[in-house]
Amino acid sequence: VVLGVDLGTSAVKVSVVDRKGTIIAQEGYDYPLSQLKPGYSEQNPEDWVTATTVAIARLILNDHIKPEDIEGISYSGQMHGLVLLDENNQVLRPAILWNDTRTTAQRKEILDVMGQEFIDITRNVPLEGFTLPKLLWVKENEPKIYAKVKTFLLPKDYLRYRMTGNLAMEYSDAAGTVMLDEANKTWSKEVAEKFDLPLSIFPGLIESIELAGNISDSYSAFSGLTTDTKVFGGAADNAAGAIGAGILYPNMVMSSIGTSGVVLKYEDSADVNYNGKLHFFNHAIPNKYYTMGVTLAAGYSLSWFKKTFAEDADFSTFVLDADKSTVGANGLLFTPYIVGERTPHPDSDIRGSFIGIDGTHTKNDFTRAVLEGIVFSFEDIMTIFDAQGNDFDTVVSIGGGAKSPVWLQIQADIFNKKVVSLVNEQGPGMGAAMIAATGAGWFDSLQDTAKEFVSYGKEYLPNPENVKKYQELYQLYTKVYQQTAEISH
Ligand code: XUL
Repeated sequence: VVLGVDLGTSAVKVSVVDRKGTIIAQEGYDYPLSQLKPGYSEQNPEDWVTATTVAIARLILNDHIKPEDIEGISYSGQMHGLVLLDENNQVLRPAILWNDTRTTAQRKEILDVMGQEFIDITRNVPLEGFTLPKLLWVKENEPKIYAKVKTFLLPKDYLRYRMTGNLAMEYSDAAGTVMLDEANKTWSKEVAEKFDLPLSIFPGLIESIELAGNISDSYSAFSGLTTDTKVFGGAADNAAGAIGAGILYPNMVMSSIGTSGVVLKYEDSADVNYNGKLHFFNHAIPNKYYTMGVTLAAGYSLSWFKKTFAEDADFSTFVLDADKSTVGANGLLFTPYIVGERTPHPDSDIRGSFIGIDGTHTKNDFTRAVLEGIVFSFEDIMTIFDAQGNDFDTVVSIGGGAKSPVWLQIQADIFNKKVVSLVNEQGPGMGAAMIAATGAGWFDSLQDTAKEFVSYGKEYLPNPENVKKYQELYQLYTKVYQQTAEISH
């Protein structure tokens, strides 16, 4: 068996996966998030180690795994979180997480100092959540701590260090620091120089499927794992999620509806250039990449709507009833900007809207408009892929959108692509296990591992009549942002 360790923002989940790709046991453990001031979000890295160790110990004590049967361990990690270590590799302050937004001044400073050169090298525009602004924040606000920094890591890289004793950062996560020259896969000397960061603090880089080391003597004594157990690099949660969904070929796009939404596309090389309009990161497959855009309120728009207007309804009936409305919700249009938006409109002040409310509209029309509006906001991201001449034909739907036939068909019709869902959706922990399985040599590549581990259910094909109607409506949808921005700002 292999272990996939999914180090999330609220909990760790450890999955035991066999050679057929079946999860034979799973254990999780929560840890707290500290929000000392508005915008702050921190965690104690020791909590990640303790929680992971407890989960592994439970799997061993409950006879779900024998330590000597574990052929590999790997990780999926919450991205961007800054872990600072001193010369003895002791943690200097709590980790500053991806959802911490104290860094607006640093984000601006980065573009003021480097402008377009920054985007050309790192392939991203700086956001509050990324790691470089956090490092600059510590440098400017906690100089005594900064003076002691010997190196920095990201959450799952720190956990791996504690399990193996080896310091390293893995590429798909390193990309999210926005200090990596992504195309050349080296730390950017220009970024380091411009922000006066000593090159000595940048950790060594490894591939996702690369051996990072074996379980160390001390971690073996602490956890019950054996020192024969091999540990592999792992990946950022979005990359690991993409692996688990089989996004391993240029024709594949993932459409993920969680609280927020992610549209993610595999990229064969760094030759495409989105110029910062979308996030562009190194993939877990060596020398491959992925592009992603985010809709801030995807599933959240639907859960807000249901909570507010149909609290007592059964969730699946409530969504199914949207089919009693028509394609285009009888002329009702919704924009899901209820907490602001990220892609393609990086605008935290914009708010959502229902356009065209008519006296004949029913609740089902409103529900349908919400489902469609969320998918239109994903189509905005797909359109940016298209503008690069990207040819993709398959969308893998995961999360809320995959649970409902109505929503799957809406996606097929709005995207005008074949839409499939996973037979057994397991999230980024499965991607982590696939990385371990590949690293351990069960299969030759992540693609080969996916052939064994990933399978898709029913195909939803676009209905030409619906496609035409949605294309007309999408033209209207794209106008709403500009018009409402004028009103709501
Ligand atoms: C991606 C991002 C989140 C985190 C969540 O840029 O900030 O998806 O990876 O862990």
